[in-house]
Amino acid sequence: MFAALTISACAPLPPSTQTDGGSDASASDGATPAAVTWSEHVAPIVFQHCASCHRAGGIAPFSLERYELARDRARSLASSTAARTMPPTLVDNSGACNLFEPHSSDWLTDTQIATVRAWADQGAPEGDPSRTPMLPPTQPGLARVDARVDMGVEFVPDATRMDELRCFVVDAPTSDDRFVTGFQVEAGDARVVHHAIVYALETAAAQQTVTDLDARDARAGYDCPGGPSAPAYPVVLWAPGAPATTYPAGTGLRITGGRKLVLQMHYNMQQGSFPDRTRVALTLATTVEREARMVATSAAGLRLPPRMTNATGQGSRSIPAALGPTRLWGVAPHMHTLGTDAQLSIRSQNRCAMDLHHWNFHWQRMFFYQSPLDLAAGETLDVRCSFDTSSKNEVTTWGEGTSDEMCLVYGYVTQR
Ligand code: HEC
Repeated sequence: MFAALTISACAPLPPSTQTDGGSDASASDGATPAAVTWSEHVAPIVFQHCASCHRAGGIAPFSLERYELARDRARSLASSTAARTMPPTLVDNSGACNLFEPHSSDWLTDTQIATVRAWADQGAPEGDPSRTPMLPPTQPGLARVDARVDMGVEFVPDATRMDELRCFVVDAPTSDDRFVTGFQVEAGDARVVHHAIVYALETAAAQQTVTDLDARDARAGYDCPGGPSAPAYPVVLWAPGAPATTYPAGTGLRITGGRKLVLQMHYNMQQGSFPDRTRVALTLATTVEREARMVATSAAGLRLPPRMTNATGQGSRSIPAALGPTRLWGVAPHMHTLGTDAQLSIRSQNRCAMDLHHWNFHWQRMFFYQSPLDLAAGETLDVRCSFDTSSKNEVTTWGEGTSDEMCLVYGYVTQR
């Protein structure tokens, strides 16, 4: 999977990216300069959009903090940005669908992409070093931390596997109901941690189910490739590189007092296996103006024929009419490793709510809109996912295993 992204990220440039013909708002940040230098033109882009991960001690495998480091990779910088696999944004934020907040989907403009390419084409010159901007500081953390979800142990992922998805049953952070309004994931060992999801359990029975699963083997937690295997909804979705996240003002997701949570960790052993103890800092509120729910629209009947580059699945979901008119603040898409693209649309408005390309199982996270979308009472959402099944010899169906697939988009929804 990891290798697959690297290959696609390094694919040759499509011809359409050679010129900056973009006329949409996102590309109106000026023309590509004739003589492009690192210090004046490329470093500002790289420092702003790449260096948060591509820095010493960052989650990316190499640093782009200095000219010499970027110069040696100029071609791959150009091809990965042109293919829009870097930065790993996933959802289209060009304005063609809906606009997400920049920290949700860090979408480069066509001009920025053309600038990096022109620089690589011109031999990656440095220019005047004194004009190189300062590296921006790392993202600030949460303003307030009220609780920490903690695995409670140093877990050593299974070194014989490339990926391990393990669920840890963690103690209830509060004895009364609270609302999660923000989170920050404190990854234990960034070399292995590939995503983290905190699930709230819907019922006391669900808590019993996960407690039983947890007791099945001697290692901490239990295997959970597709999710916690009990009725649950995510309250935190995080992939490496995602900053501290605060939910839209006045909204939050409920966690039931006294009920345990499930922390799903995705470990990737490309660099080896290292002990990890990840914690998730939460900001909690006693009340919120509007309680948010994660409404899942899924293609549960998925049946994907093998040996296809573009097998599709679709499904729909009506938001309970009893909620009245609602508001969609953001989305969190989920597929397994065969997924490539996904679209979510609002049926009565015939409107695109999310257009996702280059799905990557390693970058699961939430995307919030710049302005939330108003939905009529009982609105129906339609989802459509595309999959590449060329590596498969049998039909792939919906399931929790990594060899099964899913096509699901959570909507972060409140009453209006
Ligand atoms: C959110 C973190 C993050 C950001 C932001 C990010 N990268 Fe990466 N990048 C990674 C990680 C992790 C890898 C290694 C794993 C992989 O390939 O997905 C990587 C791999 C790469 C590679 C090697 C794969 C290839 O395509 O050759 C290139 C080149 C690259 N990044 C360029 C960039 C550039 C240029 C930017 C900014 C325009 C950027 N990255 C922004 C995390 C990030």
